[in-house]
Amino acid sequence: MSFGGVLWISMTICIFFSSVSLALSVSSGCSSKPAVVFVFGDSNSDTGGLVSGLGFPVNLPNGRTFFHRSTGRLSDGRLVIDFLCQSLNTRFLTPYLDSMSGSTFTNGANFAVVGSSTLPKYLPFSLNIQVMQFQHFKARSLQLATSGAKNMINDQGFRDALYLIDIGQNDLADSFTKNLSYVQVIKRIPTVITEIENAVKSLYNEGGRKFWVHNTGPFGCLPKLIALSQKKDLDSFGCLSSYNSAARLFNEALYHSSQKLRTELKDATLVYVDIYAIKNDLITNATKYGFTNPLMVCCGFGGPPYNFDARVTCGQPGYQVCDEGSRYVSWDGIHYTEAANTWIASKILSTAYSTPRIPFGFFCH
Ligand SMILES: *[C@@H]1O[C@H](CO)[C@@H](O)[C@H](O)[C@H]1NC(C)=O
Ligand SMILES: *[C@@H]1O[C@H](CO)[C@@H](O)[C@H](O)[C@H]1NC(C)=O
Repeated sequence: MSFGGVLWISMTICIFFSSVSLALSVSSGCSSKPAVVFVFGDSNSDTGGLVSGLGFPVNLPNGRTFFHRSTGRLSDGRLVIDFLCQSLNTRFLTPYLDSMSGSTFTNGANFAVVGSSTLPKYLPFSLNIQVMQFQHFKARSLQLATSGAKNMINDQGFRDALYLIDIGQNDLADSFTKNLSYVQVIKRIPTVITEIENAVKSLYNEGGRKFWVHNTGPFGCLPKLIALSQKKDLDSFGCLSSYNSAARLFNEALYHSSQKLRTELKDATLVYVDIYAIKNDLITNATKYGFTNPLMVCCGFGGPPYNFDARVTCGQPGYQVCDEGSRYVSWDGIHYTEAANTWIASKILSTAYSTPRIPFGFFCH
């Protein structure tokens, strides 16, 4: 980021804090103009894309908290992206693939789909496909607006929007589960990072200037992956150390790539968020934060230590689920519970894990 950019942001933050410090403690919502958010990623952010796109069933008890019905989210309730939207006082994002909701794309669209990775390219719904879908979405919105359609996002809206990217976990985790060695997994990292850089640059070329990039979590602590791994190289906490070590190397590369992008894309703001640190704190200090059994699945089968069985997963006949109100971290072995997502989102919104440290709502002020 240029010096001018830093100065502008510092000034904005100062004005922001001095004039609306009271409002801030309540909400960082968008006031002057509507928030527009576009999301690219995997199941961590999928608000129904897999169900809409492929008709893939996601059954109760997914959705049992808050929505009280299955929405296609892989969780008992809201995802991190839902809480981030709520902090802006904007509606939950509609999946791009949802053809059943009419014109509810006024606050952006969610291109994230369960299972997505950056590579291989051109397979549904890899990151480059999601970016191509966005390009189509944008072209079509502008075309419809020209022919008189109301409530379409216009050029300015696309420029002012936030572009959020949260992807990479599946690239790494799938490599391990396909029996690639640690060294082979590590060797793939640069090509994954290049794909993410290409996505940011394509969105920049479409006019996007505000980016929010999540790094990847400690996926070596995901109960499903621990339960299914062949070589149990567990650390003192019980997580797979090679998996977490790969996650940290990926994150280091993503951090450097973010710095590079800030210099290359001069008038852009790109915020990098350390999701790894947040989730690692939650898992290793679970008891301190009022959570139980951080390595055990709430909705699964088989009992301790992981309550995960690949033959009886959450929502399949025979599954067992923890009591509503109990505070598990892991919902189904891969995805987090609404309670965990609430905690994670509050840490993201604190800005303490962001580089640079600017509030999530910066793009709509
Ligand atoms: C991975 O390796 C293990 C043991 O070396 C073998 O049992 C398993 O079938 C392999 N999995 C795949 C997907 O190749
Ligand atoms: C867990 O909590 C302790 C005490 O607050 C802290 O020092 C430590 O960094 C936390 N662990 C992680 C992984 O954040």
